[in-house]
Amino acid sequence: MKGIVLAGGSGTRLHPLTVAFSKQLLPLYDKPMIYYPLSTLMLGGVREFLIISTPADLPLFRKLLGTGAELGLRISYAEQQRPAGIAEAFRIGADFVGSDPVSLILGDNIFHSPQLPGLLARGMADADGCTLFGHTVADPRPYGVVEKDAEGRLVGIEEKPAHPRSSEIVTGLYVYSPDVVELAHQIRPSARGELEITDVNRHYLAQGRARLHSLGPDSTWLDAGTYDGLLDAAAFVRSEQRRGIRIACPEEIAFRMGYIDADALYRLGSRRQNSGYGRYLMDISRGAVEAGVGA
Ligand code: G1P
Repeated sequence: MKGIVLAGGSGTRLHPLTVAFSKQLLPLYDKPMIYYPLSTLMLGGVREFLIISTPADLPLFRKLLGTGAELGLRISYAEQQRPAGIAEAFRIGADFVGSDPVSLILGDNIFHSPQLPGLLARGMADADGCTLFGHTVADPRPYGVVEKDAEGRLVGIEEKPAHPRSSEIVTGLYVYSPDVVELAHQIRPSARGELEITDVNRHYLAQGRARLHSLGPDSTWLDAGTYDGLLDAAAFVRSEQRRGIRIACPEEIAFRMGYIDADALYRLGSRRQNSGYGRYLMDISRGAVEAGVGA
């Protein structure tokens, strides 16, 4: 299964925080932001990744994540010269996608949902057209907003409407069949000069090939691309951690998915043993060895 993490853009909503530094590398409590979307796709079973970022920031992502081999992943990298819209990811990543279904996640979208791994894996297994994930928010105006009919079927998507028809938005996580590459080459830039992912999704909707899964109230979705979103997301991660739930540790997920064994997890943790993060990984490894799991 393939996954693209879009970590480009100029992060203007966060200026001056992101003038000199990539938004998706900003700290989100105890981890760089990109750990979260990476973990979301890993939980859905993705092992082959393409990370798209700016020419200036790409070396930093490489430094952080490398080839992925230590986590049993394959991570490759591609440049987006300047921000030209989310759908450009499929023009840039055309060779990477090839003839496989692909998921795309925006680097500033934070998910925590018990349903998501199953939904994502299913979306990838029977990917025809697109699978979208909806979430209800207080102010849907800055997002893609869904419209459903009386039976709850998706009938429309509007990008950043002044007068939203519902409070359910399309989150920045999508699953597509491989023909998304062709579609991304066909669409034209919008009035704001971007290749809109909403235009891609509307094409699939018009063909009757778009599905929407509404994430329920037990799911958390946060847009960490604003000052408040960034702080809210960090506060959420911290409060979950206080009750013993660690969110988005790629090393732990790699272990639980069976990509690496307990020894490898221990080695990864011991490299960061001065931090609570490293010690947490070492503890999991020890616990698993004691329980006779995954050694
Ligand atoms: C993008 C999409 C929008 C979606 C949002 C989720 O908006 O265009 O449809 O709801 O991501 O974060 P943007 O971040 O480009 O404003």
